[in-house]
Amino acid sequence: MTNGSPSFVPSNAADSVVVVGAGLAGLFTALKLAPLNVTVISPAPIGEGASSVWAQAGIAAALSEGDTAEDHAADTVRAGAGIVDEAVALLMAREARARIEDLLRYGVPFDKDLEGKLTFGHEAAHRTNRILHIKGDTAGRSIMSAIIAAVRKTPSITVLEGVTARDLVVHKGRVRGIVLAPTMEGSRTDTFVLPARAVVLATGGAGHLYSVTTNPVEARGEGVAIAARAGAVIADAEFVQFHPTAIDIGRDPAPLATEALRGAGAVLINRKGERFMRAVHEDAELGPRDVVARAVHREVVSGRGAFLDCRPIGPGITEKFPTVASICMSAGMDPAQEPIPVAPAAHYHMGGILVDVQGRSTVDGLWACGEVTSTGAHGANRLASNSLLEAVVFGARVAEDITAALPPLPPQNLHAVARASGEIYRNSQAERTLRETMSTNVGVVRDADGLSEALGTIIALERENEGDPQLANMLTTAKFVATAAFARTESRGANFRSDYPAPDEAQARRSFLTLEQADELAREAAGIASPPRLRVVSQG
Ligand code: SIN
Repeated sequence: MTNGSPSFVPSNAADSVVVVGAGLAGLFTALKLAPLNVTVISPAPIGEGASSVWAQAGIAAALSEGDTAEDHAADTVRAGAGIVDEAVALLMAREARARIEDLLRYGVPFDKDLEGKLTFGHEAAHRTNRILHIKGDTAGRSIMSAIIAAVRKTPSITVLEGVTARDLVVHKGRVRGIVLAPTMEGSRTDTFVLPARAVVLATGGAGHLYSVTTNPVEARGEGVAIAARAGAVIADAEFVQFHPTAIDIGRDPAPLATEALRGAGAVLINRKGERFMRAVHEDAELGPRDVVARAVHREVVSGRGAFLDCRPIGPGITEKFPTVASICMSAGMDPAQEPIPVAPAAHYHMGGILVDVQGRSTVDGLWACGEVTSTGAHGANRLASNSLLEAVVFGARVAEDITAALPPLPPQNLHAVARASGEIYRNSQAERTLRETMSTNVGVVRDADGLSEALGTIIALERENEGDPQLANMLTTAKFVATAAFARTESRGANFRSDYPAPDEAQARRSFLTLEQADELAREAAGIASPPRLRVVSQG
């Protein structure tokens, strides 16, 4: 470790709030913190490597005539399979209007009709049209380019690109800085410490713990591991949402065929041409995402195959869904003429760092927002297009909370208390093993044997790869997902256990784990048969 910050770190950095992550949650928080000095840490060049940019559908907000925040919250609660924090869902739905107004002020070009009024699309498990789209399936890209332009015009925000977080610096019980490392290729990476008034983790999701995912490669779940090592409680880690319609053309990451296609009339069929969702759910293709993902999984593993037939959308699919059309065309398929092969892919982590309604974690000085968190809004199954909404609602709340009681300047001698990383190496084979294990044993359908096996593999990989901090973070987060899934001996939302296929009302509650507990449970699960009961550490 160097004994100070490298020359590319701005001189006012120690006066800053450090926001780790440059997706919608991180950048929106930074904008809302202005004029406070903010340093944003971005592993990739800004605008790349964030799931927000890849979001195709849009942002849910109860703004259409006749719709209400209460109805939006009710749909969120229904989709969440019994464990949504209803107060959080309502707060999020109610604050949607103000945050959409912010986005419009930042220049986000939401679709409007000829009279200039916002238009609203339909997605699964919403009982009304309430999704704000942008030119069909380009919402994420368009929102992010407006937000990035606003960030570039904001003098109080400095973005450090090509840098990744390794650890938090906890000093006298409070987070006072962050250990960073350049994200460069090579056998040695020097870490350095950035002192901070406050640290906000907005590092995104964990899709790359799985071999089939719609997420960018940066979504490795590292924020969860970093926070947990500092003592943060992790909530609802077992709930990983699988998107039912990733386009199955052998790419990693797997490109998404947005749910908005089904909202516009596309249907799911198998190789025999059967619309298999009709027999599974009354809303057929527009049933809850976990239900549709399991049905697609069943068709795929049975060999019948699953295909999204976009022909019912009619002409104009290329104009209405330019992103999907261009992905299909690049793979030699025309979605206007032929069904697209699809498979479920890890898409969104409902679990994460437990935060309260101000985005405060359980560790002093550490806030978090966006997919890395568990606010309680999504429960066991996130409602479509609620993720970008949660990112802006909680980004604004984090900024408000930090601004209201600005934490004091950090001590200047933090380098001495940071952990040195020394020589590091990357073990790509170990990463592949982890991702395959997670997809096979901690995927759409789980059972005790598979979860035990996964935890045994995770523990072995930890032992064999002590010098790889990135892999260590991935393994820690994977361990949280697998132990929480093992401990939840019921099926609920995205945690489907074939050995416990029904929900159990006694377990209709959120799960909370510390790193110490996850370690202990993982060891037990890898070595013994009987699963322990879910432990409630705190009610948040
Ligand atoms: C999609 O476009 O289908 C994904 C939307 C979401 O994850 O909310």
